[in-house]
Order: sequence, then C-alpha cells, then structure tokens
Amino acid sequence: MLLKNLNIDKDHFLAEVWQRKPLVIKKGIQDFQDPIDEHDLAGLAQDADIDSRIVSLNNNNWSVEQGPFDEFEHLCVGKWTLMVQGVDRWIEDINDLAKHFSFIPHWRFDDVMVSYSVPGAGVGPHVDQYDVFLIQGKGKRHWKVGEPDMVVATSPHKNLQQVEPFEPTIDVILEPGDILYIPPGFPHCGESIEPCLTYSVGFRAPNARDLLQPINEALFNQSSLPRYQDQLLSPKRQPQKITKAELVQLTRLVQEELQSSLWEQTLLAHLSDQSLPVEIPEHAYSEQEIYDHLSENGSLHPVLGCRPITFEQDEKRVFINGEVYAFNDELGPRLTQLISNGTAIQMTSLDGAVEGPNSTIVNTLTQLANNGILLVE
Ligand code: SIN
Ligand code: CO
Repeated sequence: MLLKNLNIDKDHFLAEVWQRKPLVIKKGIQDFQDPIDEHDLAGLAQDADIDSRIVSLNNNNWSVEQGPFDEFEHLCVGKWTLMVQGVDRWIEDINDLAKHFSFIPHWRFDDVMVSYSVPGAGVGPHVDQYDVFLIQGKGKRHWKVGEPDMVVATSPHKNLQQVEPFEPTIDVILEPGDILYIPPGFPHCGESIEPCLTYSVGFRAPNARDLLQPINEALFNQSSLPRYQDQLLSPKRQPQKITKAELVQLTRLVQEELQSSLWEQTLLAHLSDQSLPVEIPEHAYSEQEIYDHLSENGSLHPVLGCRPITFEQDEKRVFINGEVYAFNDELGPRLTQLISNGTAIQMTSLDGAVEGPNSTIVNTLTQLANNGILLVE
C-alpha cells in the first residue's frame, strides 16, 4: 500500500487532544482505499488462530458469537457486525495502515481490529479502555461520543458490556478516510448507515495488575529470594498485633524486587509482547545453517506486524514479542529498525559484523529464526 499522509498535526494532537478528548478528523486519510473487503474479513474469521466475533441485534435481542466461524448464514441475521482482531498481523496493507500512527510509541500499540456491519448495525453504546483511532472505510457511519461522567454500565448479553444511551457531545457521520479518535473512558456508539468497514487502531495502557502479573511469574522461577528476617524479635504481649516496622520490612521485600534488573527486564519483555502468531520451525536452525543461508544471499524476513522495542539506556538488548535478544551497539538500533519496517535482513544489512557462524549476531539471528520472528527465505 502506498502510505498516504495522515492529515494530523502530530504535535498539536499530542499536546491538546491525546488522552484528553475525542476528535473528528475529516479526511484524515485522503482518497482512502479499503485494503480488504468483507469477504476477506469473513475468510480471516474462519481461521482458528484469529480472534473474531459476530455481534447482532435481532428482534431486540443482542447476541454475541465467538469465532472461528464455519458458516455465517445463521449468525448474520438482523443488524449484525463481524469483528476481527489483530488483522495487522495477517494483511500487510493493514499493518501499513497502522504505521501511520508510529508517532506514538510502539509499546503502546495493541492491534488493528476491522469490523464490517450492515445498515443500522453496531455494537451499541459502550466504553473502551483503549485509545482508539476509528478509520472509516467504505460506507457511512453515524457516531456519537459522550463524556466519561455520563457512563452508566449495562449488559444486555453476558458477553457484551454496554452503557446506557448518553447525551452526545460529538454527533457526526463519518465517510471513507475520516478518522474519529476516542480516548479511554469516553462512551461512544457507531451505527452504520450503509454497509461499512471500520478500522480500529488501538493503543493499550497497562494498569498495575497487568504489570505485576509478569513479575510474579518471573519471581516464581527464581530459585532463591530474600525472606523476611526477625532475629531481633522481642517477647510479645499482644501477639495478634503486627507492627508498622514489620509492615515496612515486608513492603521493602517487594519494593526491592521492583527495583531489580529482573523487574526491568521482565517489564520491557512484557511491553514488547504482541502475542504474534509465530510459526516455530519444525527443525531448529543451527548457527551454521543461518550463516550459510546469509552467505548464499538468502534473506531473513521479519514476521508481519512485528514491533520490537529497545530501552533508551541500553540498545544492545532488543525486546521482541515477549523475549529479550542480545545485539551489539551498532547493529541493535539498525536491526530493530529493519524488523519494525518489515525489511528483509541480508548479509549486506549486517555491515561486515558477521565474522563467522559463531559470532553473537548470528547466534541472535538464529534464535529469532527459531522463535518464528525471522522467516528463513
Ligand atoms: C466497530 O468497529 O464496530 C466498533 C468499534 C468500537 O466502537 O470500538
Ligand atoms: Co469502542
């Protein structure tokens, strides 16, 4: 896809709008052409590796069906919407669409969800915990957006969280190429006027629970951790009481883990985790095989949608899809860029850094190939 310009003043958007208020950007993408159609979308929804749903409203009854779908006829009744998550990992042009938003850090990016809905359909008024850019594809869609304090939760179906109808502060009809940005917590409701496609480019913002879970797992695998100690314990007359000093010492045990290199590494790995649909090669490649492949002008192709991250204080470590990889100083940023761009890695990309099959770089590339991040082609 030809990456057309995104019609947003990025500095102004980030300073005034991002995370603060919803915004309609008419003609956000000029001459927008849908990269896929509803038939392609239905094809993706048949795949068991892809998360999809059909939400419909029929005779005042909401229903929610989870994919994969073998057939659609009996589900696509009434006012229905088909939604497919993570389409950026399967369709290159959709991944390119997401690249419009690379002015926002990669670790905040979640995925591109694509929906198709028939006239009158939508998923009802609701709130998302995501920042989302809703790009209107073909068709017209009527959107209403309200204020966060207007939200009254309701659930017309056990798998459908909605909010009560709200007074809109934005009431707009989107046409192809228009964009609606909605920060987390703002109620919104989109109803198709014509059969339409919507591309939701979503950005996640973790909370403490999301962040503590990976460190909890990492600590579980540590063989020895410092324990609470109380050699200076004095006889207690009221043994039911826990002292402030004891509580402080217990809390410190946790705080120390949160300042450790394990925490930093676990957090960075977690932030890089995209749950990419990787295919692990049947037979693990050896360093020699990867070296020979590159020496014979072979390429290593990054898996679609891969967004590595690096920590600004140490670009030798590159975090990709939940794992850490060691690069060297010069090659770390360059290879990270190539993988982000989806550009194939060849011997010529490695700037003479490959001294032989035993070099660090070949070892790292071999790990990436064996983890399905680089495809040997
Ligand atoms: C949709 O595309 O149908 C729903 C998108 C949203 O409201 O988040
Ligand atoms: Co939404």
